[in-house]
Amino acid sequence: MKRRSVLAIILSLSVLLGLVLTLTAGLSLAQSDPDADSAARQATVEYTLVTGGGTGQLVFVGVGGDIDGVVNPTLTARPGDVVKITLINDDGMLHDLVIDEFDVATDQFADRGEQDSITFTANKTGTFDYYCSVPGHKAAGMVGKLVIGTSAAAAVEGADIVRDPSDVPAPLPPREPQTVEVDLVAEEVLGQLADGTVMTYFTFNGTVPGPMIRARVGDTIVVNFRNEVSSQFPHSLDFHAATGPGGGAVFSNLAPGEETTFSFKALNPGLYVYHCATPSVAHHIAMGMYGLILIEPEEGLPEVDREFYVMQGELYTEEPFGTTGYVNFSHEKMLNEQPEYFVFNGAAGALTSDEHALRAELGDTIRIFFGVGGPNFISSFHVIGEIFDRVYDQGSITSNPLTDVQTTLVPAGGAAMIEFQTQVPGRYILVDHALSRAERGLMGYLYVEGEEQPEIFNGTLTHGSGH
Ligand code: CU
Ligand code: CU
Repeated sequence: MKRRSVLAIILSLSVLLGLVLTLTAGLSLAQSDPDADSAARQATVEYTLVTGGGTGQLVFVGVGGDIDGVVNPTLTARPGDVVKITLINDDGMLHDLVIDEFDVATDQFADRGEQDSITFTANKTGTFDYYCSVPGHKAAGMVGKLVIGTSAAAAVEGADIVRDPSDVPAPLPPREPQTVEVDLVAEEVLGQLADGTVMTYFTFNGTVPGPMIRARVGDTIVVNFRNEVSSQFPHSLDFHAATGPGGGAVFSNLAPGEETTFSFKALNPGLYVYHCATPSVAHHIAMGMYGLILIEPEEGLPEVDREFYVMQGELYTEEPFGTTGYVNFSHEKMLNEQPEYFVFNGAAGALTSDEHALRAELGDTIRIFFGVGGPNFISSFHVIGEIFDRVYDQGSITSNPLTDVQTTLVPAGGAAMIEFQTQVPGRYILVDHALSRAERGLMGYLYVEGEEQPEIFNGTLTHGSGH
């Protein structure tokens, strides 16, 4: 009788839980874009369990929230969440709580009221046992499930971290040097790396690359920098456009929740990389912490019809290219310089999507601000079917540009300003001409709309060219 009523409670609780989950799912679907972004950020999920919980049996019982009173409740988390589980002794017998796959265990204790917690990052997806490792207790019933990423409530979906290539600040009007304020926030984001694949990115302002910054030689750049309170790591800023130790890193290494302001004077014009400089620097850069800052010369830049912002980087995941679910960063692969993914603007094939492809009209003059975050690989940047009319090599704007260039080398932590006019309509493919990388996600499209130009380019289309 007693057992039946407990079961009835559990059943009604799980129905209630199901309802709550359905409602929550409905709500998150109805959210506007900015909210959806914050929902995708890394969260801390906390659970409390007591031993026995007055049942007189060898079980865990949930305390608080959806699991209150539930025997061996199923705990859920999203990939990338930080999970904290607190165990409280409520029956005066020796117990602990262990999850083998995450290599975590509470202390063992036997006194009523004693407690201990485990905290770990949900860096694998699947269903895992939590259990008491005191001999016999698991078999007697002290075991439950932790589900990461495979239930409907924990769907594998990340935020769109791709910086749109058309998101370029407007050219500067002729003006005297002034003070320019820049707001940058280090945010660790669960982001979409590829279809069905998510990763925890480190970002500036939620996207890869971070925002492009545009100033003029002689300007004083005042940087307001904050590390989001939800971050797990410290972060900092190194501006290649700054003159001084660490390019600003000495002023900006911030723990989660900290903020600071520092400034530098833009002494040299050019197109420069900025990036996080917190060790392991290569790790932070690989995870997405880079961007470009353009310091215009006194006279500004020649006018063009369209400007684009594209950066290349490579990603080192434990799981092979194409693995779905949550993928983990591999320090070993990074040290061996064996990336699984190469990306323009943060994600595999990011600039081939309808949403983020580059678009122009026939006859437009185009300028691409192209940079390499890396951390390690140089780019042999090429646009298939186009010839660069001008390349400002090495990001040097004060040198005369190279003219009529097929492919340009851009070093890790370097940039180039590339200009050309569109003369034939169609789809052009942005690549690194080290073309194996195209099969690891490194590709973008430039669509040029307009009348066919048979006097320049003429023939009968063949199938299967891939262009
Ligand atoms: Cu960082
Ligand atoms: Cu650097």
